[in-house]
Amino acid sequence: MHLNDNLTKKFLAWYDNNKRILPWRVSKNSRKRLYYRLLSEFMLQQTQVKTVLPYFKKFTKKFKNLEDLSQASEREVLKLWEGLGYYRRAKNLLATSKIIVNKLQNKLPKNLDEMKKLPGIGDYTANALLALVYNLPTIALDGNVKRVFARKFNLDITEKKNIDRFILKNKKYLISPDRSSDYVEALMEFGALICKPKNPICKNCFLNKECSFYKSKKKNIKIQKKIMKNLHYDIYCLVNKRKQIALSKNHKLNFLKKFSLPMIEERKKSKYDKKGNWILLKNYKNLISNKKLNINLYYKFSEKKPQKFSWYSLGNNKVFLPTFTKKIIKQISLIY
Ligand code: ADE
Repeated sequence: MHLNDNLTKKFLAWYDNNKRILPWRVSKNSRKRLYYRLLSEFMLQQTQVKTVLPYFKKFTKKFKNLEDLSQASEREVLKLWEGLGYYRRAKNLLATSKIIVNKLQNKLPKNLDEMKKLPGIGDYTANALLALVYNLPTIALDGNVKRVFARKFNLDITEKKNIDRFILKNKKYLISPDRSSDYVEALMEFGALICKPKNPICKNCFLNKECSFYKSKKKNIKIQKKIMKNLHYDIYCLVNKRKQIALSKNHKLNFLKKFSLPMIEERKKSKYDKKGNWILLKNYKNLISNKKLNINLYYKFSEKKPQKFSWYSLGNNKVFLPTFTKKIIKQISLIY
């Protein structure tokens, strides 16, 4: 696997050109930074950006800063949170804001363990806030970011510890030493806009040439294309005046060994098939595993049959015949 620190630079370059303008993405020096980041990260847990936006606006209108929020009642906060779901987040946010304002001199802890002691802040949010508020070099692994790495590096995410182990091992290549805040958001943004869970936009992805997922997807498409064969067959059915058709017992066929009508692949047509006035009776389109079959059924009246063929009475139920042959025979019966 090829890993170098260009990866973080590529994510950052993509982010610089493609990031959405979101109200919590305030400048490094903004006094609102801590409050906006804390509020948005709580709201964005398990919730999409577009759902969060109106709530974020409502909250920041009512509570201008973290102190305001810390003085609110739980009822007030829950009322504003109404409709956003996971209400425990609202309670935890209020509790955390009280601790920050009243016990931590309005400062968020600068280390992971201290941060994780705050209500509602788990490993992911703690890492995100370290980067988003303090620009500390770290990596915040939510579901989206894990998916990005899993696809890029062909990691199995069903094995939970797999990604964590991989990240730990390659940490120095996967964090940004100087633009961690933007980098952490770049990964989230990339997971939300390009490397989406369902239809990822691999075609326009700047990483696609070095992405395991994209390569295997392309290979699969190629294989599928190669395997999917269009085959054209003609089936010739000789019928006589006594309601009999000519069948051959051991007629070898490409894909249905027991088939017992002369069936000839288009590209292998011989003089025999072209001779005479065959009448087109029906066209069948059939899909058998990886073969797209296009079959024309021809017939003509004749009292003479080729060698190795025997006459078969249309009403004869004793002979074993494959389903498709039976279908043809039924069709032939209609001409009498
Ligand atoms: N999801 C969690 N945090 C986010 C952020 N800061 N921007 C976009 N999506 C996010």
